[in-house]
Amino acid sequence: MFVVRQGETVFGYRNACPHIESARMAWRKDEFLNADRSRIQCSAHGALFRISDGVCEIGPCVGEALVPVSLIVHQADVWLVGDYEPGLRVNMRGQRPSVDALPKGE
Ligand code: FES
Repeated sequence: MFVVRQGETVFGYRNACPHIESARMAWRKDEFLNADRSRIQCSAHGALFRISDGVCEIGPCVGEALVPVSLIVHQADVWLVGDYEPGLRVNMRGQRPSVDALPKGE
């Protein structure tokens, strides 16, 4: 997962592009934003996503969205809300695939 902060607000998303099932988003370690830092950018084909809701606005998956991760900020700390299972991807409908469907190394 990754977190983007805009002012006092934080947005969390799973590190998976909706365009291709196993594609990670970061184009370099801990780098998820485009050059002017106005959108989240996928490393593979350059899709650009709104930071506020993860919807793809430009690129091969327009209209699809990153899977959000619920977060809260408490006294300058960022906390996950609810369950989160690292390494297990969820599809764009929020459903987890079977373990057999996961790429090796997950
Ligand atoms: S895998 Fe992200 S835009 Fe293609």
